[in-house]
This record gives sequence, structure tokens and C-alpha cells, in this order.
Amino acid sequence: MNSNQVNRVLRIDSSSSSHGRSITRRLGDEVMRRLNQTYPGADITERDLSSGIEFLSESWVQANMTNPAERTRAQLDILADSDQLVRELDSADVIVITAPVYNFSVPAALKAWIDMVCRARLTFRYTENGPQGLLQDRPVYLVLASGGVAFGSPADFASGYLRHILGFIGIQDVRTVYAERTNTNSSASESAALDMLAQWFPVTAATAAV
Ligand SMILES: Cc1cc2nc3c(=O)[nH]c(=O)nc-3n(C[C@H](O)[C@H](O)[C@H](O)COP(=O)(O)O)c2cc1C
Repeated sequence: MNSNQVNRVLRIDSSSSSHGRSITRRLGDEVMRRLNQTYPGADITERDLSSGIEFLSESWVQANMTNPAERTRAQLDILADSDQLVRELDSADVIVITAPVYNFSVPAALKAWIDMVCRARLTFRYTENGPQGLLQDRPVYLVLASGGVAFGSPADFASGYLRHILGFIGIQDVRTVYAERTNTNSSASESAALDMLAQWFPVTAATAAV
């Protein structure tokens, strides 16, 4: 990846806590600041899933399963929001996803977004050799936080799932930054996350904070 290739950044937040209270949003801001320094001028699309996202319905599932050439006007309308979310994802050169651990997994809003973008024929397909992701690979900065669970432990059903689902649709280049066990020592966890972040964005004269 070089700076010429990064024209669009997609940011997805999923914490129910607002800016100012949310660790993942704060860390996400820092990722965005570094991306902006590294790739100035890139278009930014922000999706705050806490403000609401559609859930799958029977009519959505039926529309999605219908051959695209045979979909009715109503079915095309039903899929329109999902189409838009897939377009946002597909057109982004870099993606930032922020997610706290909720009940050992990802927030329901983020799962709903996943349901909207995992689309047979658009983002994945099944072949004789198993599933194949249809999106081009690109960097994803995955910003996670947990209150008590250690990432990578048997009780972490969030980070492995997110990596799996991104890989399922073709995105393997996942760069994880996490603040874990924030209930115990929130500021130490956040500093550790910032150290991880620094590994992805080595400081140069051009990007050093002033
Ligand atoms: C509804 C809810 C459920 C949570 N469930 C878990 C959990 O299962 N395991 C865990 O380690 N932390 C859990 N936490 C703690 C959050 O993951 C932790 O506070 C995180 O730092 C929050 O990130 P945020 O400030 O960006 O929202 C939960 C928090 C909330 C609000």
C-alpha cells in the first residue's frame, strides 16, 4: 500500500457509548488522525452503527436469494441499504472498525452490519473448494476493547470472529489494536493500545505530533 492508493477510508463504530465516554471511539479517533497524516486528502465515510441499522427480515432474505436479474422493484428496494453498505465497504482502500466486547462477542449493531454486507454473489460465494471471498484484500484496523476478557483467550468470541468474517469476504490484512481488561486499569490498557497502534504507523518527520 502506498499513499497514492488510499483515496477512501471507511470508519465503522459500534460502541453504544458516545464519544468522550467510549474507549474504542477514542482509539478510533487516533487511528483516523494517523491515517489522515499518512494519507491526507482521503475521503472519509463514517458509519456510526449505534444510531441504528436494519436487521435481516424474511423479505430481505427472500430478495437476496432471488436471482438478481429477476428481482422485483420491491425486492431491489429492500436490498438498497445493504447494497449501499457493500458499496461503501468495497470502495474503501482502508477500513477502521471499532468494537467493544459485549457479552463475550461483538455488539449486536456490528453483527447486524455484518449481516448486511455478507452477500452471496457480491462479497462471497461458495465453490467446489469451499467459500471464496469476493472483495479485494485491503488493510483493516480493528480497534477492540474489553472490560475483563483477555483477547485470544477461550472467552474471546469477538476478535477471532471478526477476523474470520473479514477473511470470509476476502479481507485478510487485519491489523488489530486492543485495550483489554479496561475494568482493571483503563488508562494502562489504553496506553498499551496506543503502543500497538504505533507499530502500524511508524513516526516519521511528516507524521510526528506537534
Ligand atoms: C453491555 C455490555 C456488555 C459487556 N460485556 C463484556 C464482556 O462480555 N466481556 C468483557 O470483557 N467486557 C464486557 N464489557 C465491557 C466493555 O467491553 C469495556 O468496558 C470496553 O472498554 C467498552 O468499550 P467502549 O468504551 O468503547 O464502549 C461489556 C460492556 C457493556 C456495556
